Amino acid sequence: MSRILVTGAAGFIGSHLCEELLKEEGNEVIGVDAFLDYTTPVWVKERNLKQLLTHPRFTFMNINLLKVNWELLLPGIDIVYHLAGMPGVRASFGPDFSLYAENNIVATQRLLEACKESLVKRVIFASTSSVYGEKRGKVDEDASELPLSPYGVSKLTCEHLCRIYGEQEGIPIVILRFFTVYGPRQRPDMAFHRFIKHMLEGEPIPLYGDGTQSRDFTYVGDCVRAVAAASTAKHLIGETINIGGKERASINTCIALLEQLIGQKASIRWMGHPPGEPKSTWADVSKAEKLLGYAPVVDLKEGLAEEVRYLKALYQQ
Ligand SMILES: NC(=O)c1ccc[n+]([C@@H]2O[C@H](COP(=O)([O-])OP(=O)(O)OC[C@H]3O[C@@H](n4cnc5c(N)ncnc54)[C@H](O)[C@@H]3O)[C@@H](O)[C@H]2O)c1
Repeated sequence: MSRILVTGAAGFIGSHLCEELLKEEGNEVIGVDAFLDYTTPVWVKERNLKQLLTHPRFTFMNINLLKVNWELLLPGIDIVYHLAGMPGVRASFGPDFSLYAENNIVATQRLLEACKESLVKRVIFASTSSVYGEKRGKVDEDASELPLSPYGVSKLTCEHLCRIYGEQEGIPIVILRFFTVYGPRQRPDMAFHRFIKHMLEGEPIPLYGDGTQSRDFTYVGDCVRAVAAASTAKHLIGETINIGGKERASINTCIALLEQLIGQKASIRWMGHPPGEPKSTWADVSKAEKLLGYAPVVDLKEGLAEEVRYLKALYQQ
């Protein structure tokens, strides 16, 4: 039996990850989350957790990582997945940066300090493609890191903290860099969620940039299969691994797909060019294929259809 702690368990990716981990009979999962409502209302996070709360091998703790007593929480834990944090590029500019400093940098350093005194076998940190900044072509893990946003800086700082505690304290660290994750439960501040919600309500969709920017889109089901595999795969300690998706596309292509799926033309409200966003992201996932047996299977049309279905149920219930 492995006892697995998942921070950020009520969030978009964290709730899917807990469900994926519980498919393995030998896993017991302890989810921690403070229901921060800066990007996602509390009722949506409660809904994310609904199925999990009925599972006999799942325990949930509503605690803030900045206040938690790690000495009580960590004993008996084999694996830590650290997904809790402040996500989102745009909001990291301006006065809210302190939220990123506290919930990303400070919370991660405290977790790593606590792990020094524990018998944890693996600490798996959820990082982001935002650490790379603007790059041409496919990006592998050896590419230089040059974030364009305070969010990216906060996550890169967490990566460095992981490296320092790994090298100097022997904490068994694995870093996974996610590329734009989408699908059911996607956060309301993320592009597809906003596009679909506005289209369903018959409102113009707010579009940042000119729509030619492209992203490597990762379906959440593919993402969490790779993340769950990191709990047992060999030769991972000290590694940093990209988790990208099956398909890369421009935002304009995605809007055209949504028009087909929803059966209506989108009208656009142009929001200008925000800072912090690269023109393109594109993951080289060969390391994930080799070390995690990763093979993303869900294409954009299929994945977007799932997200449309989810958002119809969420807002039209
Ligand atoms: N969604 C993506 O496309 C994406 C891409 C790259 C990286 N990531 C990273 O993956 C992780 C999960 O992202 P997500 O989209 O699921 O975000 P999310 O906001 O849905 O989930 C994060 C959860 O962490 C919780 N949290 C934050 N600070 C906390 C604290 N101090 N104590 C306890 N709980 C706290 C929040 O309440 C939230 O439920 C984040 O670390 C994010 O930076 C996400």
